[in-house]
Amino acid sequence: MEATGMMFTELFEAIGYAPHIGQVRFHASDKRFKVLIAGARFGKSLAAAKDVLPDLIAGRSTGWLVGPTYALAQPEFLYLTTDIRDRLGVEIIEHKAGGRDGYSRVLTSWGGELLCLSATQPEGLLGQEIDWLILCEAAHIPREAFERFLRARLSTRNGRLVIATTPRGFNWVQELYLLGMGDHAEWAAFRHATWDNPMIAAGEIEAARATLPPETFDEQYGGAFTTSAGAVYREFEPALHVAPDLQAPEGAIIYRGIDPGYTNPTCCLWAAVDHDGRLMVLREHYAAELTADLHAAAIRAIDTEFTDRGHKIGPAWIDPSSRGFQSELAREGVATTKAANHVLAGIDVVRMLLRRRDDGTSGICIDAGCHNLVREFEQYRWHESARPGERVPRKQDDHALDALRYLCLELRKRVDWKEQGASW
Ligand SMILES: Nc1ncnc2c1ncn2[C@@H]1O[C@H](COP(=O)(O)OP(=O)(O)O)[C@@H](O)[C@H]1O
Ligand SMILES: [Mg+2]
Repeated sequence: MEATGMMFTELFEAIGYAPHIGQVRFHASDKRFKVLIAGARFGKSLAAAKDVLPDLIAGRSTGWLVGPTYALAQPEFLYLTTDIRDRLGVEIIEHKAGGRDGYSRVLTSWGGELLCLSATQPEGLLGQEIDWLILCEAAHIPREAFERFLRARLSTRNGRLVIATTPRGFNWVQELYLLGMGDHAEWAAFRHATWDNPMIAAGEIEAARATLPPETFDEQYGGAFTTSAGAVYREFEPALHVAPDLQAPEGAIIYRGIDPGYTNPTCCLWAAVDHDGRLMVLREHYAAELTADLHAAAIRAIDTEFTDRGHKIGPAWIDPSSRGFQSELAREGVATTKAANHVLAGIDVVRMLLRRRDDGTSGICIDAGCHNLVREFEQYRWHESARPGERVPRKQDDHALDALRYLCLELRKRVDWKEQGASW
């Protein structure tokens, strides 16, 4: 990561590229497979092209840009050829401009080869081994083209992959995105809204918001995975709500929310409230098919980490319908209190907390280690077959979200969010 960082900084300076914050985070990851999901004009194509530039100029190498059509891979192709030819002065010894109807190819005097291809003729994708691959507007590329014709080309040379696309429903790209948001050694993922590109005028976004159906706006500008029924937590933006290494303010009380399950996972979340009234979700325990004593042991162990750092442990709120589990936890030394369980009211409280405030922050912040909570935020959606106007969430992927709802509904009732006399 250090070495890549250095190389990028110098190279980016040389070509006059100043990535914005969202792009910097994308470039900083040295994972082999990177998924960049964002709204239109965030700067995906630009960032994807810059990210493979070091590979293209490193010497003998082959890289592919594959789009749903030839035309849709052209922006990346133009960004790259302009950089190597006009900004870095690399000699191009072969240049076949394809564009709308045919493949494009560039060969540099250093042996760097760049091909711009269409996924509509996957069989025609030559039987070559490649060093890197960008899937441009990947959400419009069929899963099969990637899995059968493209992915294997990367294996021999340990090739890199960049997926850059606006989202499109809950398809294979979302699966790879969630892999990257999880705790995976080789995959990293990023998701941004159009407004994370500071060069886009706010008026342009507001005009789109006013005219597009909400789900279309969320997808094309919010960069969100959604469906016609819509995501429940429309306001969730990982770039805004998820951060690494969150620390509870000194002296803050640690609260827990617990959603029990056996076949489904049991989830416990640990959270604190900061001086701005922001809910900080610090830890998660998330595991299925364990007995209550094992969950209790895991919960007590994490409680101890917090008490060791001087925090008091406040109440744990639990699903009110889980009497048996509640008494089993109590026997194992984890006392809990029944939470209010008004699903829609709870959802509304969470959504209010997710909103971006005037100062650019939001009322909720989640530690990046809470992988399951983040995944559920991305997958939770309204029931497709609910009657018009009726708000019914799908009963799926909601375990960490239920635990969060208990926390939010209960904490909202309280004024004593910190220990009397504690200061921060
Ligand atoms: N870091 C940046 N510096 C300058 N311009 C940028 C930057 N990032 C994006 N842009 C500009 O924003 C516009 C959209 O970029 P592009 O990569 O085509 O977006 P996307 O692929 O996300 O739709 C382009 O005009 C591009 O030059
Ligand atoms: Mg693009």
